[in-house]
Amino acid sequence: MFNIENFDIKLNTEYIGRTFVYAEELSSTNTFLMDKQNGYNESGTVVLAEKQTSGKGRKDRVWYSAPDSNLTFSILLTKDKFLTSNSSLINFAASLSVAFSIENLYQLKTELKWPNDVLLEGKKTSGILIEATSQGNKIERFVIGIGINVNQPSFQGTFNYPPTSIRNELGRNVEREKLLAEILNNFELLLEMIKKNKSEVINDWKSKCKMIGERISIVENDSEKFGIFYDIDEEGFLLLKTKDGIEKIHYGDVSLG
Ligand code: BTN
Repeated sequence: MFNIENFDIKLNTEYIGRTFVYAEELSSTNTFLMDKQNGYNESGTVVLAEKQTSGKGRKDRVWYSAPDSNLTFSILLTKDKFLTSNSSLINFAASLSVAFSIENLYQLKTELKWPNDVLLEGKKTSGILIEATSQGNKIERFVIGIGINVNQPSFQGTFNYPPTSIRNELGRNVEREKLLAEILNNFELLLEMIKKNKSEVINDWKSKCKMIGERISIVENDSEKFGIFYDIDEEGFLLLKTKDGIEKIHYGDVSLG
């Protein structure tokens, strides 16, 4: 069972996680926070569920996470002006906060896979799903859903990318409360960094992405594109170099080759 007191002691933020909702079971923490009717509208609210009955992944996939052993949570942001102009970078801040936290606490080397997967030894330990509602061209609610395989020892089923957990790479279970607090602490710092120095966030992200410069294939809206992973632009989009020039990619699944 997640110990909220132990988490709270280690939380060092001004607003991220200061409203904290703990649920034994939800359909999805993202779905819960996206719905205004649930009454949580404060920017920085974090909802954690021990079990999700309809955990969602990117591209309508399912996110399955063994109850009580991992972290499945969502963060709500509602400061519209900042969100509208920085949504891709907030996505980077989320994956970087997970990567930095795993490295700081357990000295494991992480790698990032565009747009926001966190890998350990080439296997996926964390995925992020961002959902948003807008009015006109202003984002109203921005929900960052993070799933981390923390202490899950084995994985059944078929995966579009091989999974792992922190436990499997470290050889021991870790304290979820400490990890969640560290991630939220880092996330708040990275949001501040976006305001002050966007290029530092992009450079940090790029330094952890080993695919830059490699030949890749990318599946976006059912079509597959091939080229060189040329760079990440200042908005956080992937630049693909093909025989026709440089193409900006907004979404998609990247693979080597
Ligand atoms: C992916 O890699 O496809 C993204 C996975 C995102 C999973 C998290 S778990 C918490 C939050 N609630 C959900 O339903 N999904 C996200």
